[in-house]
Amino acid sequence: MDDLKAKYLGLISGAGSEAALEELRVQAVGKKGEISLQMRELGKMTPEERQVMGPKLNALKNEINSALAAKKAALSDAALDERLKAEWLDVTLPVRPQRQGSIHPVSQVWEECTAIFADMGFAVAEGPQVETDWYNFDALNIPGHHPARAEMDTFYMHRAEGDDLPPHVLRTHTSPVQIRSMEATGAPTRIICPGRVYRADYDQTHTPMFHQVEGLAIDRDISMANLKWVLEEFFSAYFGTKVKTRFRASHFPFTEPSAEVDIQCSWENGTVKVGEGDGWLEVLGSGMVHPKVLQAGGIDPNEWQGFAFGMGIDRIAMLKYGIPDLRAFFDSDLRWLRHYGFSALQVPTIRGGV
Ligand code: DAH
Repeated sequence: MDDLKAKYLGLISGAGSEAALEELRVQAVGKKGEISLQMRELGKMTPEERQVMGPKLNALKNEINSALAAKKAALSDAALDERLKAEWLDVTLPVRPQRQGSIHPVSQVWEECTAIFADMGFAVAEGPQVETDWYNFDALNIPGHHPARAEMDTFYMHRAEGDDLPPHVLRTHTSPVQIRSMEATGAPTRIICPGRVYRADYDQTHTPMFHQVEGLAIDRDISMANLKWVLEEFFSAYFGTKVKTRFRASHFPFTEPSAEVDIQCSWENGTVKVGEGDGWLEVLGSGMVHPKVLQAGGIDPNEWQGFAFGMGIDRIAMLKYGIPDLRAFFDSDLRWLRHYGFSALQVPTIRGGV
């Protein structure tokens, strides 16, 4: 019996597959298995012998059976391990929770502006952020000695030693795109240009990089009346309520006449509400494009005229969404972005024909 036990335990532990294990089971404890045959011999024994041999055989059978079961489990575990190694992708697992990003208020307002002006037939134009001295200043009727150059706190690019050309600048406004788009499309034209601009300035209402949207409409009979209508239409759609504008005489080198434009608002406990009350808030500069600017863009000022305006995107974003500090726009603070950001599926809130 000890030989039988040693033989089968050895064979079982060496079995390489479940099929081989099943063969061993039949061979040992199957109907005609070696151990089963031994048990049949019990009938021929004397009661005394049977009393000794019976329990021993039973114990052996149990031991073989549990060795078979243990080996079977081990083999199927190993088979599963093998499969898992090959099939590492479990498509039934739930996805890991993922943080969703949000749309920055500047991007949102940029889109809103584009959509509203597109409704009025304005295409989007773009220009470089590193601009030549000529496009940023001269072509806009700001010659070298003009005080506006000093006022703009311009960032100048480096020039190689011995290179006497005026240095390029980080554009101080989106106005140079007026010239570039006049050159590209000629007259008539109707464009807006949203974009980044740069000035060396930093406090609660100024950051060295900020955003403007420029507007330009040129045709044969464009007047300040068209400008006023377009702006009131824009602000009403943007703020979702009828907004009055006030034009104040001003001066810009690139427009004549020039106007600064205020929108109607009320102040209540320190919060601004646009489109009601008898307060005014300055939001942009504008005017009729100066003949010299048209000329610089290759357009004959005797035939064509137009209006232009430039407005701060960050500023109107702060107004619409109640954001108090401009600097926070560019801090990349995730808590701020989650609070003031927009979901990707949030369609710009614009309302036409108010
Ligand atoms: N470029 C001006 C600025 O950055 C804003 C501006 C004023 C743009 C009048 C215009 C305009 O197109 O007509 O301060």
